[in-house]
Amino acid sequence: MNGFGSTGEQGMSPHPDVTEFDLLDVPSDYFADPYRYLAALRECSPIHRNSDGTFVVTRYDDCVAAYRDPDTWSSEKKADFAPKFGNAAPLYEHHTTSVVFTDAPNHTRIRKLFQFAFTRRALTAFEPRIARLVDTYLDHLEDTGEMDMVEEFSFKLPIEVVCDMLGVPGCDRDMIRGWALAILTALEPMLTTEQHADGNRAVIEFKQYLRDLIRHRRSFPDEASPTEVLTVLADAEADGERLTELELLHQCIFMLNAGHETSTNMLSHGVHEMLRSPGEIRRLAENPGLVASMVEEVLRYQAPIQINNRRSTKDTEIGGLPMPAGTTVHMIVAAANRDPRQFPDPDRFDIARRPNRHLSFGLGVHICAGNSLARMEAAIAFRKLFGRFPGLQLMAPPEIAARMRFREIRHLHIAVN
Ligand code: HEM
Repeated sequence: MNGFGSTGEQGMSPHPDVTEFDLLDVPSDYFADPYRYLAALRECSPIHRNSDGTFVVTRYDDCVAAYRDPDTWSSEKKADFAPKFGNAAPLYEHHTTSVVFTDAPNHTRIRKLFQFAFTRRALTAFEPRIARLVDTYLDHLEDTGEMDMVEEFSFKLPIEVVCDMLGVPGCDRDMIRGWALAILTALEPMLTTEQHADGNRAVIEFKQYLRDLIRHRRSFPDEASPTEVLTVLADAEADGERLTELELLHQCIFMLNAGHETSTNMLSHGVHEMLRSPGEIRRLAENPGLVASMVEEVLRYQAPIQINNRRSTKDTEIGGLPMPAGTTVHMIVAAANRDPRQFPDPDRFDIARRPNRHLSFGLGVHICAGNSLARMEAAIAFRKLFGRFPGLQLMAPPEIAARMRFREIRHLHIAVN
């Protein structure tokens, strides 16, 4: 079975020639429908060389092999980010200190320290708060009759939740959104000078903001909730070790960033895909129990993080191709999630798909620490939204951002019927 004959987005043209494809200089129509290019790469050039000597990996099994072997495929980014950002840059400091870009033993130590934030008990405590927030946004939708789903719902919910979780005042969310966007945009394969400067400024301001907040919490401990991550993490110890101040600040910045942009896009894409497939809305209405598999299908179909990276620590191979030590690979989750070897009829959006072992949360030691929280937010949001407004309508095509790593919907105008 191969991916030809199917299309990534509904109604799109056949696969393009990818002989000259370069992740550092993608064609202008890539962003509207990356899946056509990714399907062609997966079938014709599954380990594809870019102009800078890095490789694009698009098959499911090849991505899984790299995720599962962290000794050979490192997450550390110092060698990649020193030339990209400069090794004295705030962006370099942030992206080489946050948990996701570290290897064992540092990674094991840091991850263990904030595991407490994601226990079942901690998450269950959030459930009523999420439900209340969703009800508020839906009340607003009922009052106004229409809304920009991104601004009024899918951005608000995750940032409220992650700010609550850390103990960051919700009123600062717009500021945090701006910083997060600048810091995460700096991870795109190509950067403008302005994006570079914005990213560095954002790290400096974000660090100062959190430093002040931690100082305030220490001066007024009664204001802190006993479970909030910021204060617990500041004092947390595992095996007699604590985080340094710098590590603490960068883990908090990472969690605030990781915890909202991805989830925002998951919610926006979920609503968009359902509105493009009215049959699936009817199916969900007839069988509300499908919401859990619907969440998985949304994550598979439009991976919020489309690319993860690894670097080889020794001479090795991937997909049968030799890779010398120091080779960077771009694991294209968005392509692996539609590999027909793993997912029958992969370009079909099917809310009852089972099994559905997508890679949208990664795999192995770095698997997303917040995956249960994200899944819970999505399940509550979709169940309530489609339960209350089964006649929801799309008012205009969504505006998709020209970003490669994050599949971002900028605006999604919806109306109740
Ligand atoms: C739909 C929403 C989300 C998606 C698609 C997502 C995706 C991912 C992916 C792919 C990774 C692994 C990266 C790699 O292996 O290189 C990751 C790691 C991580 N995510 Fe998420 N994430 C989401 C939501 C969240 C939330 C809500 C939080 C926390 C509030 C969170 C916290 C983290 C953390 C702490 C890590 C680092 C884990 C480690 O390195 O050990 N994520 N996420």
